[in-house]
Amino acid sequence: MLKINNLHVCAGEKEILRGLNLEVSTGEIHVVLGANGAGKSTLMNAILGHPKYEITEGTIYFEGEDLTKLKTYERARRGIFLSFQNPEEIPGITVENMLRTSKQAITGDKIKILQFHKELLKLMEELQINPEYAGRYMNVGFSGGEKKRNEILQLLTLNPKLALLDETDSGLDVDAVQIVSSGVAKFHNENNSCIIITHNAQILKHLPVTHAHILLNGRIVKSGGAELVSEVAEHGYSQFEVES
Ligand SMILES: Nc1ncnc2c1ncn2[C@@H]1O[C@H](COP(=O)(O)OP(=O)(O)O)[C@@H](O)[C@H]1O
Ligand SMILES: [Mg+2]
Repeated sequence: MLKINNLHVCAGEKEILRGLNLEVSTGEIHVVLGANGAGKSTLMNAILGHPKYEITEGTIYFEGEDLTKLKTYERARRGIFLSFQNPEEIPGITVENMLRTSKQAITGDKIKILQFHKELLKLMEELQINPEYAGRYMNVGFSGGEKKRNEILQLLTLNPKLALLDETDSGLDVDAVQIVSSGVAKFHNENNSCIIITHNAQILKHLPVTHAHILLNGRIVKSGGAELVSEVAEHGYSQFEVES
């Protein structure tokens, strides 16, 4: 599904990713681990084509197509979704309007307003989001946890092929982590894939993680299975600095 080869990415003057390789197949759940500042969010932003992150070398292929030639909205239409580490507040646009408009833009289908409203309320109930929030401006005045749950609401509404989740579980209490993880579990099936950035081994309880990677000095220095997540949670990253 996704094949990243020798990716080099600069932000400003600084080279952040330096020869990163990563392959994700359909049905897999990958976890990317790495200390603060390692370049995890940079990787996510580069996949979606954030203008601040310049790809200076390497390729990103999605379903056989070179993504780097496409605009961000074209990448979204191909079925790639990013849940932001720090979701933006968008005054003047309600959650419902934003989601309906996004879904319409991505699928190209005309969406029936009433039916969409019903489906949205059902998802909100599952994610334990107060239904009043459908009419509130996007993320404005939301708590940290509410913003993250709202990201999962977007994920379930847009139903992408590849979901990139950037620390969606950070800063959440135990119950909220459970709600977010079960939302991702509800999304995931054999026809789609996830790349999850987390510092939390909790995620393993709720999701069948198939691969884990350590990002260090702009590269993936070690890959393995789910056991790598617990290993890092217990022993930290310093052991990998020696290995790289
Ligand atoms: N837009 C930017 N301009 C300049 N430096 C940036 C930018 N974005 C990230 N960086 C720097 O790149 C490094 C990696 O950042 P980031 O990808 O956000 O790390 P992580 O998500 O792993 O914590 C950090 O040192 C950060 O300060
Ligand atoms: Mg980050």
